[in-house]
Amino acid sequence: MSYYIGIDLGTSAMKCLLVDSTGAVCKEASREYPLSFPKPTWSEQAPEDWWKACCECVAELIEGIDASTVAAIGCAGQMHGLVALDAEDKVIRPAILWNDARTAAEVDFLNNEIGKPALANATGNIAFAGFTAPKLLWMRKNEPEAFARIKRIMLPKDYINYLLTGEHATEFSDAAGMLLVDVKNKCWSKELIDICGLKEKQLPKLYPNSACVIGTLTAGAAEQLGLTTSVKVVAGAGDNAAAAVATNVVTEGTCNISLGTSGTVLIPTESFCMDPNNALHSFGAADGNYLLLACILSAASCNKWLCDEILKTKDYAQEQVNITEEKLGNNPVFFLPYLMGERSPINDTNARAAFIGMSMDTPREALVQAVLEGVAFAVRDNFEVARSLGINLSSSMICGGGAKSKLWVTIIANVLNIPIRLPFVEQGPGYGGALLAMVGAGEFASVKDCLKGLFGAQEQEFYANGNNMILPDAEIAARYEERYQKYKQLYPALKPFFNNI
Ligand code: XUL
Repeated sequence: MSYYIGIDLGTSAMKCLLVDSTGAVCKEASREYPLSFPKPTWSEQAPEDWWKACCECVAELIEGIDASTVAAIGCAGQMHGLVALDAEDKVIRPAILWNDARTAAEVDFLNNEIGKPALANATGNIAFAGFTAPKLLWMRKNEPEAFARIKRIMLPKDYINYLLTGEHATEFSDAAGMLLVDVKNKCWSKELIDICGLKEKQLPKLYPNSACVIGTLTAGAAEQLGLTTSVKVVAGAGDNAAAAVATNVVTEGTCNISLGTSGTVLIPTESFCMDPNNALHSFGAADGNYLLLACILSAASCNKWLCDEILKTKDYAQEQVNITEEKLGNNPVFFLPYLMGERSPINDTNARAAFIGMSMDTPREALVQAVLEGVAFAVRDNFEVARSLGINLSSSMICGGGAKSKLWVTIIANVLNIPIRLPFVEQGPGYGGALLAMVGAGEFASVKDCLKGLFGAQEQEFYANGNNMILPDAEIAARYEERYQKYKQLYPALKPFFNNI
């Protein structure tokens, strides 16, 4: 029996899995690391913390097994983060993350001076604060000495792969989020590289799909991890693309909602597809195909913020027990989930979160409910954009920490008025990473073959007779339709105010 390691380099923690060749999860290990907000709108992490967490997790995973049975590693990672290394391979500054919004001026320059049509033509996307290219422009302007020392730039999971293999590599699914790639033609965009003041040699080698083997463990990495140098490392994927593999959302006509720190709506497309308003991102899928992705910057993190910071509790489930079915669609309180500004579809770094509609008789649980609903409405905003492009979204998978709350999934099913499928495998991106490792090691010829081979009949049975699916209820969905129409009025009304605070 061979084993595969899947790594999920998340925003709050690293979660690693040991998976065997039948696809069974044999062991899990995770380590949290700090996320720092050194200035308003900034969001950073120390790449060294990711590596330390990776070494500790892998050591824990392989305890008690013969290390030579580990065949391959696949890493999934938070997208868009900028990791810059100098000539000595030292990290030049903390990584600037996907939810950092310091780049408002650079986004303005890219979208309004270079111009959205030119950007969309060169890359398939426009600029958003969290993307990598505006971060490079920010660094060039604000930290010119550090910028001049950059030997290589890489994305978070590519940094881990670099330490594992010594190879400076990336792949299509994650690189598409840098705004440095011509997504349609799957190659670096010379224009954008130039605009950012980079040379192509500072960029990683771009692999066409996530299961490509980029190398094997270096002697040093093998020793640190307790593994052998024959372990293959695949290119891996951006966390959303990897989660789509884990939830089997790899064919056109399917959809995955992820409720993690961010909230995403992922729609695979067989050919390149671009939203004419660029509210949805045109990105790459793990198998080298394309996808549309919407990202709301604060999803499960809104509930975490309310419970941890305001209600001062860690018992999230307890906060939801009083939210009974008759309350669904009847909550007078609204919540706008813009705790970190917002990406999709409004692209507004100034937007902020807000509670509206409280009165003296508003109970604690109405605020909790409003938060769950506000995130569901923000997901719906993105569904509306997808539907306006003629995409038929008649059901969706869901994954991520937030999907563990049946109440939250019920709210989402009713707000979207579609059936939502609970995950067949719970682990999301890390599991996707392990499956990509399996494909890379040759267990399966492709991602689709792997999913068919491992899940096939079992998965059909899992959803048979409507099991493990949350269906909307006509009355509740109608109440939510009315609430959503009201919710939609809040952001346009508050936008001028947000621009002034
Ligand atoms: C997607 C995005 C987030 C991060 C963090 O565009 O920014 O989903 O990948 O997980």
